[in-house]
Amino acid sequence: MRAIGLAVDVYKKVFTRPVISPPQPVRHTGFDLDLTIESVRAEAADVVSLVLTRPGGAVLPAWRPGSHIDVFLESGRQRQYSLCGDPRDRHRYRIAVRRIEDGDGGSSEMHTLRSGDRVRIRGPRNAFTFVETAPSYLFVAAGIGITPILPMVRAAGARGRLVYLGRSRDTMPFLDELPATCEIRPDDEVGTSDIPALLATAAPGAAVYVCGPPPVIDLARRTLFALNPTASLHTELFSARAVTDGREFDMVLARSGETVRVAATETALDALRRVQPDVVFSCRQGFCGTCKTRVLGGEIDHRDRLLTPDERPDHLLTCVSRSAGGVLTLDL
Ligand code: FES
Repeated sequence: MRAIGLAVDVYKKVFTRPVISPPQPVRHTGFDLDLTIESVRAEAADVVSLVLTRPGGAVLPAWRPGSHIDVFLESGRQRQYSLCGDPRDRHRYRIAVRRIEDGDGGSSEMHTLRSGDRVRIRGPRNAFTFVETAPSYLFVAAGIGITPILPMVRAAGARGRLVYLGRSRDTMPFLDELPATCEIRPDDEVGTSDIPALLATAAPGAAVYVCGPPPVIDLARRTLFALNPTASLHTELFSARAVTDGREFDMVLARSGETVRVAATETALDALRRVQPDVVFSCRQGFCGTCKTRVLGGEIDHRDRLLTPDERPDHLLTCVSRSAGGVLTLDL
């Protein structure tokens, strides 16, 4: 009876209260490894998957659905990709990359990798936790957002329902790996999907996982709990969120004396990259810590949940945080 009582308590805590993610603190439990690319496969228009192995076939660190790895590229770029293979296969990691033509070059560089190449990775880490005990799941994946969702769908089995959105079938990777029950909704066949109507189909108490671009995530966050107050919402963006409530400010780079103006609609990171194109960054969403920069003066408007209380007085994550008013002086 005690065990049942505890289980009911846990159930109530987890499923009777809305849960919104991310941003969540990322567990830094990864490893740095040099891996070999075993194979590269075209999965859809501008999307390739890469299978990575350890030299000599050694076992890889375990991971769970929702995990990602950091990939360190020759150019010095660092990018994060969800693991989309089978967690039971301890000898292979699989990631998938969509090439973004007008992006920062990271995805194009990933597309130059070939079978036999070596890459350094860090991870796996998990910032998109799969709740294994939900009574049912609704997964909504848009485009390349299918990558973290795919292992979750497999883990959920008969408790899960996947709705997969995309522009057209030829742009949607892994169609051949999806369960027969998956609803595939390409815009050019069925029109743009009504996200709130879709979320309304989640069962009471369901865990709803949404991975896609900011407008889809924002709509889910605004509407799900009005439609289904007992559901829990778990989200992951696959692109940086636009700045919508920013104010213009100046940053002084202490080492060069240069002043950089940050426009109201851009991030401090984007402004920095105009004058220092090699400044390091990765997730652009405030959860990996790669862009952490020391602040020598000025008041910071922190918009992340990663920095510790000790770090907050004199560090900022340039990809999301801004000035709270006035000039910021950075140790750059
Ligand atoms: S780039 Fe990841 S926290 Fe800024």
